[in-house]
Amino acid sequence: MLIDPSRLPQVANDVMNMLHEEEIEVFNNFHDAVLAKDIDKIDELFKVVLFDVEDHFKTEEDLMEQTNYVNFQTHKNDHDTMRKKLAKFHKRWEILKGPTELQGFLEKDFSQWLMLHISKWDSETALHLGYAN
Ligand SMILES: [Fe+2]
Ligand SMILES: [Fe+2]
Repeated sequence: MLIDPSRLPQVANDVMNMLHEEEIEVFNNFHDAVLAKDIDKIDELFKVVLFDVEDHFKTEEDLMEQTNYVNFQTHKNDHDTMRKKLAKFHKRWEILKGPTELQGFLEKDFSQWLMLHISKWDSETALHLGYAN
């Protein structure tokens, strides 16, 4: 398991908590396929990962824009950094089909990033959304 769902930080917004729960499930399935070095499954689940991340980030960005959140750009920049990394690793995957590289990225980079991002930016944004309603 990449991320234990019980470690997921809860924020003050139900939509965001739901997005995060979904994301962890998608990434745990992806991580299973990576550990199993199942090339076909990784091919399939990488697309699900990219779709799910975009849905997660875009939904939050729309909520921030609709409520004129003052730190919108900084929060979005952190999403954009991860968008670029995922796009880069997907491109490399398409050429190299290397599960070990993906395992390193998931375990040493993505999982830590997600926890920190939720604790900092999503928590703050969720509080703002609470006030805006
Ligand atoms: Fe989030
Ligand atoms: Fe976020």
